[in-house]
Amino acid sequence: MDLFEHQAKELFAEYGIPVPTGKIAYTPEEARTIAAEFPGRVVVKAQVKTGGRGKAGGVKVADDASDAFGRATGILGMDIKGHTVHKVLIEEASAIAEEYYFSFLLDRANRTFLAICSAAGGVDIEEVAATTPEKVAKVAIDPLAGVDRSRAREIAEQGGLPAAALDGAADLIEKLWAVFVDEDATLVEVNPLILTQDGRVIALDGKVTLDENAAFRQVEHEAYQDKAAEDPLEARAKEKDLNYVKLDGSVGIIGNGAGLVMSTLDVVAYAGESFGGVRPANFLDIGGGASAEVMANGLEIVLSDESVKSVFVNVFGGITSCDAVANGIVSAFRLLAERGEQVTRPLVVRLDGNNATLGRQILADAGLSGVEQVDTMDDAARRAAELAAVGA
Ligand SMILES: Nc1ncnc2c1ncn2[C@@H]1O[C@H](COP(=O)(O)OP(=O)(O)OP(=O)(O)O)[C@@H](O)[C@H]1O
Ligand SMILES: [Mg+2]
Repeated sequence: MDLFEHQAKELFAEYGIPVPTGKIAYTPEEARTIAAEFPGRVVVKAQVKTGGRGKAGGVKVADDASDAFGRATGILGMDIKGHTVHKVLIEEASAIAEEYYFSFLLDRANRTFLAICSAAGGVDIEEVAATTPEKVAKVAIDPLAGVDRSRAREIAEQGGLPAAALDGAADLIEKLWAVFVDEDATLVEVNPLILTQDGRVIALDGKVTLDENAAFRQVEHEAYQDKAAEDPLEARAKEKDLNYVKLDGSVGIIGNGAGLVMSTLDVVAYAGESFGGVRPANFLDIGGGASAEVMANGLEIVLSDESVKSVFVNVFGGITSCDAVANGIVSAFRLLAERGEQVTRPLVVRLDGNNATLGRQILADAGLSGVEQVDTMDDAARRAAELAAVGA
């Protein structure tokens, strides 16, 4: 889960990391009121979970409260790389002497943590990394040794930071490591990390990605969830512990195993090209167990999507054999009927793998209305796409 800049800065502040003071505004009027609380100039910053806001015109300096009103009017509602700006951060303008770059991240390829530091920070860091990579220090971090003050200072030196910034940067880097570890983050990035004209080192921007696999021990992270941006179906699926992702097509997809479901999306999109561009409506992996209840919950979520015109259930029996899955589908229909939900859209089922013959027999014997069986994945995808095209 990515945090907004203002959330990252609030988190940084809890760890004693210096950040500019600021407040969130949802309207130009609020921006004006907040700006009036600051003695000098303020910066109005679009809060969207994507980089390059400055270059897109989403970061503007305002001279006074009425200027902040105007800047906020321009930025609120703006689209930055597909993200609509719903709120702006109003913060004190810092007197910048120099801009640096710093981040800690999980380096999956090298199976380690990495610190990246450069004296050439700011909005053009990608350009710097591409054209003059020697200006960007990449330092592997031993997870057991971690980062203490002297290690932090070494990293800042390797990044080429000037002597005047070393103490401040070392302090900040050591604290950022604490954020990274204690909060179970996979990324903490500060770009720019600045040296002010009066010699202080401050985190002027903040990007944090939290590892959702750690949610069980980071209960307070739930407060960071952006409920407004969450798809309502995805939110319901999450409550039922389903791995569901809403997509924009019309063929509902249910499968077991993330890899199989991913390839199911591909074959449905491919087959759909022959039917005027029919596409998958979702990703849903019901996992290995595939009990009747999980199948019923999955069907309920998929069918509550209005744009779903047909459903493709694609199962490869492994440890959970096809007869168990077939029984699951039969019971799921019964469970749904008990909940007062009728399965009114056609279902194409492909069962293969362990005990496929028995599974197919069970489904055939049940004679569920609207359920068709197709033996191969490609043929089933084609049939599901065809049914979706007819139902549209
Ligand atoms: N509080 C501030 N005071 C003065 N200048 C600021 C302030 N906040 C941002 N800036 C200036 O605006 C630039 C862009 O801001 P920031 O890095 O927060 O946005 P960004 O463009 O989204 O960054 P990124 O490229 O990391 O995505 C900074 O490099 C800095 O020069
Ligand atoms: Mg930045």
